[in-house]
Amino acid sequence: MNIENICASLKKLAEDGADAISRAGDVLVVSHIDADGLTAAGVICTALSRRGIDHTPLFFKQLTKNELEIIADAGSDLVVFTDLGSGMIREISALGIKAIIADHHRPGSSERCGEIVHINPHLLGGDGATQISGSGTAFLLANALGKNEDLSALAVVGAVGDLQDLSSGRLVGLNRRIIETGSRAGVLSFGPDIKLFGKQTRPVFKMLEYSTDPYIPGLSGDEEACISFLKEIIKLRGERWRRWIDLDQDERARVVSALIRHGLRSGIPGFRLERLVGEVYTLTREREGTELRDASEFSTLLNATARYGHSRIGLDVCLGDRDGALEEARLLLSQHRQNLLNGIKLVKERGLVQLSNIQYFDAGEDILDTIVGIVAGMVFQIADRSKPILAFASTPDGMLKVSARGTQDLVRAGLDLSRAVSASAGEVGGAGGGHSIAAGATIPPQNRDEFLSIIDRIVGEQLNRNRSA
Ligand code: C5P
Ligand code: C5P
Ligand code: ZN
Repeated sequence: MNIENICASLKKLAEDGADAISRAGDVLVVSHIDADGLTAAGVICTALSRRGIDHTPLFFKQLTKNELEIIADAGSDLVVFTDLGSGMIREISALGIKAIIADHHRPGSSERCGEIVHINPHLLGGDGATQISGSGTAFLLANALGKNEDLSALAVVGAVGDLQDLSSGRLVGLNRRIIETGSRAGVLSFGPDIKLFGKQTRPVFKMLEYSTDPYIPGLSGDEEACISFLKEIIKLRGERWRRWIDLDQDERARVVSALIRHGLRSGIPGFRLERLVGEVYTLTREREGTELRDASEFSTLLNATARYGHSRIGLDVCLGDRDGALEEARLLLSQHRQNLLNGIKLVKERGLVQLSNIQYFDAGEDILDTIVGIVAGMVFQIADRSKPILAFASTPDGMLKVSARGTQDLVRAGLDLSRAVSASAGEVGGAGGGHSIAAGATIPPQNRDEFLSIIDRIVGEQLNRNRSA
């Protein structure tokens, strides 16, 4: 199906969803604890408030039978699942939960399950890793509920939070429709720029120093090197240290060219041009110089809340709180950035274990299970990218979290981490899912090595099968 048809079909499903919502007295909004999940909930809760519909938000790290029982016991008229739910659609149906699922993960079943309205691009041949995120499907639902075009800005923060722009250097597919809507509504602008964290909020030399994603050999982590590199190209101080947004077009172009030359000269595979420059998304109604102005910084700010158990703070920022919640989120952000840096350092020190078709590290209790996937993605940037990376971390309830990340090239060669992870986890008494390029699971810790040997074999089969085809 082409994008036009996928878009039309998803809109039709969203209208069915909006009808069901209009008939409900109260709605439970269940979402995921990452930037995409928070923005998805922000989109739906705003749309429900605007329609005067009672609702309660609830966030989960993952959806298993336990969580579904809590949800069923809550006794709401209707449950709107956003950024999760597709993987558990059969179980949701079996519990008799009246539900709408607005998600982008690979579905557990593509069959119709009772009365559940299921809004998911995979059901129509679309791709949930690049074409639309959880907040994007939530936005379609919100648009069917009323005039909510301004919420496209939050939808884009979710898509960027899920790195949906990474493979093409810009948002594509249905996401493109959403940014066009946002641009028409006057809430978004977009164009090519540098993609480093901190364009809005950090002095330029700090932006370079803290660039772990991409990692810039010779500059990342080295303040003095960043200052002397930049001193040759631009004036570093005006009235105060200058940020990226304080530079003019010519200065920005000079810095980008110098970085590209530096990266090429370093010859280190860790330097990845598509992570350095690409399309960036500006939330034009947010104050300049704040994290919220840049979709990527906004998404990192949100990840710093819900992943640490503070989903209410992140949601309040999504709902428009620019005072208390934003201040609290900023405090959490600095700790989050530090945790990511510590995580990367730890993996660099311990190294990666190589198997035939995968590589992995086990962080034990040293990296939180809720951020180990982000650390894996960052470490993977500077690792051998011919094999997918897996990361393990203990969970607070004594299980083992697995995060897996691949590349677009590996996916083209047949890699499907969603299938590989969920099949391997299933065989050792765990469960998981996700996307071809990024997936996760929870397994019993004593079965780690068995899990590793199964997934190593499955990934080998996925890559070899298509290579010889
Ligand atoms: O749960 P969810 O779908 O929201 O998360 C998607 C995950 O996939 C994110 O952690 C994102 O970083 C990862 N991803 C990736 N590489 C891509 C696309 C997504 O690592 N090219
Ligand atoms: O947690 P992590 O960032 O590694 O998740 C990668 C992808 O796998 C996300 O899209 C996430 O929603 C999905 N996932 C899942 N089931 C799990 C863990 C992760 O579907 N148990
Ligand atoms: Zn998502």
